[in-house]
Amino acid sequence: MIRLLLFTTSAVLVSLAGLGCSSSSSSSPVLTLGVVLPTSGPNAAVGQEAADAARMAVAEWTQRFADQGYNLKINVQDDASDPKQAVAAAYAISGDPTTFGVVAHYNSGCFLPASSRYHEAGLMAISPATTNVEITQKGFAEIARVTPHDGIQGLLTARFVRAHLGPVRVAVIHDRTQYGQGLAEVFRDQGQQLGLKMISFDGIQVGDKDFKALLTKIRSESPDAIYFGGLYDEAGFLVRQMRELGMKNSFITDDGVFGQDFFDVGGEATEGAIVSFPGTPLDKLESAKSFLKSFEQRFSRPVQNYGPYAYDVANILIKSAYEAIKNKQSTDLRAEVVRRARSITHQGALGITRFDSKGDTLNARFSFYQASQGSFQYLQTVGLEESPTSASPAIGDDDDSAATSNKPSDSAAAPAAGG
Ligand code: ALA
Repeated sequence: MIRLLLFTTSAVLVSLAGLGCSSSSSSSPVLTLGVVLPTSGPNAAVGQEAADAARMAVAEWTQRFADQGYNLKINVQDDASDPKQAVAAAYAISGDPTTFGVVAHYNSGCFLPASSRYHEAGLMAISPATTNVEITQKGFAEIARVTPHDGIQGLLTARFVRAHLGPVRVAVIHDRTQYGQGLAEVFRDQGQQLGLKMISFDGIQVGDKDFKALLTKIRSESPDAIYFGGLYDEAGFLVRQMRELGMKNSFITDDGVFGQDFFDVGGEATEGAIVSFPGTPLDKLESAKSFLKSFEQRFSRPVQNYGPYAYDVANILIKSAYEAIKNKQSTDLRAEVVRRARSITHQGALGITRFDSKGDTLNARFSFYQASQGSFQYLQTVGLEESPTSASPAIGDDDDSAATSNKPSDSAAAPAAGG
């Protein structure tokens, strides 16, 4: 049997065999996939979808591990989108010597502090959803993500706004989190360079529900558009109160708003809002078809957003562990998973995933959608190398027929599109 070595907090190497923690329900040694996501709190819906997708991956691999003499388990911990709880969960997960990898966090504000713990523990942690630029800049071999970062999201959104609205006046709002503020800063700075006029830059508090004072001030500045960097609930309240105040400007926001919760909170006021989300739409990806079908059958609900991302992360980690135990190449499974996961070419639901030297995905593309009657209508997919097509409807256009008939940009079908 392979010996699973790990770092304790005092950086002393111990072995799994030495700890004797090798079995649960059966006599086979246990290997555990860790999962830390918000399964409670304001982002519980996205966290539960991603956790279920990871459970699905574990179920699909269980027999192959059993055939190798191992008992594959999953340990799902709730970070509730709270950075302190995230770090505590990272300690709990990494302190279990059977854990070989972690599907790590939805919020950038959680993964940023927790990543240091995974690094200390030599434990590969791949995020299905976090986009803050700094996450992969610490140079930790144990950290990666399957979502393109906000340097790209902010730039592509600024280009999109410039292409479809022209050199307009934009009020920027953010939620003061590392994610929302970081993304809003990129959008502001890139937009300015492209000729957008940034007339204000304001922070709100996560959890607040009344933004009328701020919006009244912004209304007096007569913006053509409001850009918001943040998450579902605050975006829903902002857009609703914006319309209640009679503001007719466009509303443009981000991947943290791409889900049903935005419609539940914002109601009809969401109509026409523009939202960005990583990658090519899953219903346009051949590679995602069987995942989408299996998920819906298994959990009796449709996939909303980050499920396929968590599924691919789980598969990358499990496959890396499986190859290591099958080939009996190493006595240090965590280190072997790090080595294998970082250099993997993974054909998954998102298409081919590979990581660059920092742990960022090479699938550097985002799609834009327009809210229409309670769902997101696809507009187009763009990468860094291309400009948004001019065939898209105007942002805030009330007629959504143009949006639904709009074709993806040609390169949306290319392999680099995450497909
Ligand atoms: N992409 C969002 C974040 O990084 C969800 O927090």
